[in-house]
Amino acid sequence: MKVTFHKTHTTKEEIKSAVRAIKSGWLTMGPETVKFEEKFKKFVKSREAVSLNSATSALHLALKVIGIKRGDEVILPTNTFVATAEVVTYFDAIPVLCEVEEDSHNIDVSRIEELITAKTRAIIPVHFAGLPCDMDEIYEIAKKYDLRVIEDAAHAIPSTYKGQMVGSLEKSDVTCFSFYATKTLSTGEGGMATTNNRKYAKNMRINRLHGISRDAWDRHSTSKPWHYDIVDNGNKYNTTDINSAIGLVQLKKQDKLRKKRVKIAKKYMKAFKKNKNIILPVVKDDRESSWHLFVIKVKNRDEIIERLRDCGIGTSVHFIPIHKHSYYKKRYGYKNSDYGVANRVFKRSLSLPIYPDMTNKEIDYVIGKVTKIIGV
Ligand SMILES: Cc1ncc(COP(=O)(O)O)c(C=O)c1O
Repeated sequence: MKVTFHKTHTTKEEIKSAVRAIKSGWLTMGPETVKFEEKFKKFVKSREAVSLNSATSALHLALKVIGIKRGDEVILPTNTFVATAEVVTYFDAIPVLCEVEEDSHNIDVSRIEELITAKTRAIIPVHFAGLPCDMDEIYEIAKKYDLRVIEDAAHAIPSTYKGQMVGSLEKSDVTCFSFYATKTLSTGEGGMATTNNRKYAKNMRINRLHGISRDAWDRHSTSKPWHYDIVDNGNKYNTTDINSAIGLVQLKKQDKLRKKRVKIAKKYMKAFKKNKNIILPVVKDDRESSWHLFVIKVKNRDEIIERLRDCGIGTSVHFIPIHKHSYYKKRYGYKNSDYGVANRVFKRSLSLPIYPDMTNKEIDYVIGKVTKIIGV
């Protein structure tokens, strides 16, 4: 049997919707995107949603609209995908890496204050695997030191924190989602920035298309379509209506797809609960994970990956911490010894397959092989 690490949930419905967008003749950002933004903001209950071509673009524009400048410092967890740190470097600002928690792998809030200097401007918490960070504690620190909060919610659709959807938390400045192929809502490539700040949303809209005062769809629907002004030094970060048409279908199914991942997570939890060789992902009463990833911790992780691969099971590792990557080490001089917890977490982490279309047979096969290889 073969169980891949990830399989995208795409059905006839997504295909039909994409074809409809193509046949409309308006392939780039247009009415489908306007609709996608409307529906997305209703779903997460934010005031504004700005559609983009990736979460990386969303994070970049979020830092731009809060006014990050050269030499500023931005605090983020070392356990993240490179995009979270990379966007900080776009400004010649400094990514300041924070330790993570042993159980959730999220930013360790108790280690943030020691990193704050006169140059600190923002914190980017990353909701690892879809489990929200300790946001109230982060907001408290942000308020005390007058810092902005940008959520990296690439994994967190749909996730809730104290009953509220990630994407709508009022004390955050901007929240950034990813619709990359492996994500819980996938358009192939794509992203969304949500905010309750209308000025930020307006700036992000202008910046996603070269700093042009009005986008093509907006101009198309008026009497003077040729006229525009460049009001900022922008980027080419807009999405297409083909992606948005797929996104609209995926958005409708989000609760249903999450339920399926929850079912798989529960099966794994039950099967491995008493296994002394496996540390399971943490669950917290006051928040709900999207279950984008199911990350266990094991000894001899690399060998287990090989043995599972021999059984036809795909796995992955999330993440190689930022401080271990040569470019970042060289440029910012991060010290490996500053990140004892993150190093331990990285050494043992193993992501198992979890996606809505996994069959019971596939789930049982993974459980059986993992148990056999790891022991009990
Ligand atoms: C935590 C995190 N942040 C940001 C990103 C970037 O997302 P995108 O590929 O949509 O730019 C990813 C993608 O894997 C991610 O895992």
